[in-house]
Order: sequence, then C-alpha cells, then structure tokens
Amino acid sequence: MSNEKIRFGIVGTGVISAFHIKALQQIEEVELVTICDIVEEKAKQYGDKYNLDWTTNYDKMINDQNIDVISVVVPSGLHADLGIKAANAGKHVVVEKPIDITLEKADALIEACKKNIVTLGVISQLRFYDSMLKVYEIVNSGKLGKVIQGDAYIKWYRSEEYYRSGGWRGTKKMDGGGAFMNQGVHYIDLLLSVMGSVKSVISKVKTVARNIEVEDIGMAMIEFNSGALGVIQASTAMYPGLPARLEIHGTKGTIIFEGEVIKLVDIEGEESYQKENVDAKGAANPSNIDVSPYVREYNDILSAIKENREPKVSGTEARKALELILAIYKSSELNKAVELPLRNE
Ligand SMILES: NC(=O)c1ccc[n+]([C@@H]2O[C@H](COP(=O)([O-])OP(=O)(O)OC[C@H]3O[C@@H](n4cnc5c(N)ncnc54)[C@H](O)[C@@H]3O)[C@@H](O)[C@H]2O)c1
Repeated sequence: MSNEKIRFGIVGTGVISAFHIKALQQIEEVELVTICDIVEEKAKQYGDKYNLDWTTNYDKMINDQNIDVISVVVPSGLHADLGIKAANAGKHVVVEKPIDITLEKADALIEACKKNIVTLGVISQLRFYDSMLKVYEIVNSGKLGKVIQGDAYIKWYRSEEYYRSGGWRGTKKMDGGGAFMNQGVHYIDLLLSVMGSVKSVISKVKTVARNIEVEDIGMAMIEFNSGALGVIQASTAMYPGLPARLEIHGTKGTIIFEGEVIKLVDIEGEESYQKENVDAKGAANPSNIDVSPYVREYNDILSAIKENREPKVSGTEARKALELILAIYKSSELNKAVELPLRNE
C-alpha cells in the first residue's frame, strides 16, 4: 500500500460528514472514492457536490475492492453495526464519537476489527488541537506538582429544533444519551486522557428543558484511580451556551483548556499566562467545527494503518469514555456511587 493512495468510502451524509470529506480531500495520500446514505437524495446531493461516486447500497460499498477504509458517520447507535460489517469485509474502520452507545456493541466492534486484522480509529478530534497537545505536555512535565483534581464543564445549548432536525437525536435507541453521551463525550474523553482511569462515580442526570428521552443536564463527581477527584457538568439546555472547559489542578499549578484554546496556565515560580476572551465555538452550534484537527486525526489513523499499530484514539481508548458515561447514568438511576470497571453492561 506504501506508494498507492489509501481509498476511502464514507457512510452517512449528514451534518458532520462534510467535515470528514473536507479533511480527507486535504490529505495527499487519500483518495475519497464513494459516499453512501440510505436516503438517495442525500447521497446524490453529496456525491454531486463533492464529485464522488454515491450509492444507497452499503454492502456494495464495503465489498468494493477499490476501497481500503470505511468511515462510519451515521447515528451513534449504528456505529458498531456498520463498522463490524466493514471489518468483516476486510476494510479498516473509522467511526465517529461515541464508539457506540453500549459496551456490548463497542466490544463487538473492537473484536471484529481484531479478528479481521484491520485498524479501528474513533474520532475524538479535540485531542489533536495544538493547544490540547500543550496541555498533555505541561501535565506530563510534572510542573503542576501532584495532580489532585480534573474537571470538565460542558455547558452547551441545543434548541428544540436541533433535536427535531434528525429523528435519532435525543432518543435512547440511537443517541444513547444526551448531554453526556453526545456532546460531553468530547471533553470526557479529554479528561480521561489526562487524568487516567476512574475508580468510582456518583452522579445525577435529568431532563429539564427539552422534549427528549435523554438527559439535558447532569453532574458527576469522580474519583480517579490516581486518588485525584473530578467534577463533570454537562448540559445542552444552558442558554446561550458557554465554551466548554477542562480544568486540571495540581499542588503547584493549574491549567485551563477552554473552547479549544489554553485559557490559563499558572505554575508556581513561573510567569502566568491568561487569555481574555474565548469563543464559544460548538457551544450553541454543532456545525462550528474546525476541520484541521480532523486532518491530524486522520493522518494518525493512516500512519497507524501503515505502521500496523493502534491509532491514538483506538477502539479500546474510546471505550473508556463510553464506560464512564454509562457509569454516570447507572449511578444516577441507582442513586448511589458506581465502581468501575462496569460489569454486566
Ligand atoms: N466529532 C464531532 O465533533 C461530531 C459532531 C457532530 C456529530 N458527530 C457524530 O457523527 C454522527 C452523525 O451525526 P450527524 O450530526 O452528522 O447526524 P445526521 O443526522 O446529520 O446524519 C446522519 C446521516 O446518516 C444517514 N443514515 C442513517 N442510517 C443509515 C444507514 N443505515 N446507512 C446509511 N446511512 C444512514 C442519515 O440518512 C443521515 O444522512 C453521530 O454519531 C454524532 O455523534 C460528531
């Protein structure tokens, strides 16, 4: 494969699919071949707009010998189903976040990719911002001292129209959850990538403002296995929507990542850095997404395929955020603390 283009097919031509297309079209070694959607009109519209073959027949696309990788960009509850089909057809697989909405299906996808010796990457593009790479660098340098708390605040706003814009949004069956599973997962993944694994969680989630089956507000208190504590607050009902924030506190310093930039670095004995105004970015509009971190994540996945290694956000890595989110739901439902790893999920 080394001198040849790596050829992609994308399934799903909704809101976020355009970012995948734009990212893949920027990568020299990639050829985006086919786009697929169950709705013919949508598949044709994207095919014509981006000059791609289009189809409504997913089985045909995954069995096309001219395609090496399938990107799954459909409602969250279908990620594993379509990903497993692609893996069984011998294709490498990229799925959007969350990896899926149940651990059973996430595990089945991870297993199918392993069995078929194909690569699985899960989109979590925030990990690939320069600013986030800087957060990892500072935390790993030890300059914050002992890290004692890590928090994620995702106080966003999604209108009733947003939920009505796709039949699957806000449903238990296809969205699997709300402010935590759909929106919060980005920052929950970041929090775990900095703070490590979770020992236990106690939480409360509710639906207070939208006509949906899933939560639009909630909070969780976390104990990490490192001994550090953490708070996660997530909502899609907080007008006008604030920039999401990750706050990492140590005995010798604090770093705040807000709205995808570094907002504050204050380390004992060093000059502090503070940024005044931070854009709200995705806080009120899900289409307000930067394509460059997608390009970087795809580049990492392409290198992983060539080097026969796991991508940075592998299936196993992405599963961690899903497990924590399900533990948050379970704790709220049982009204008591829940220990990880989850059993019988
Ligand atoms: N990484 C991010 O920042 C980000 C942002 C938004 C959405 N997402 C994720 O992307 C996924 C898609 O979200 P969206 O907002 O683009 O949804 P959407 O509703 O706008 O688009 C989904 C598309 O999938 C198609 N589809 C549904 N079932 C299908 C099937 N069986 N076969 C083929 N096509 C099918 C629909 O017709 C629709 O065109 C979700 O999992 C969501 O969580 C990620």
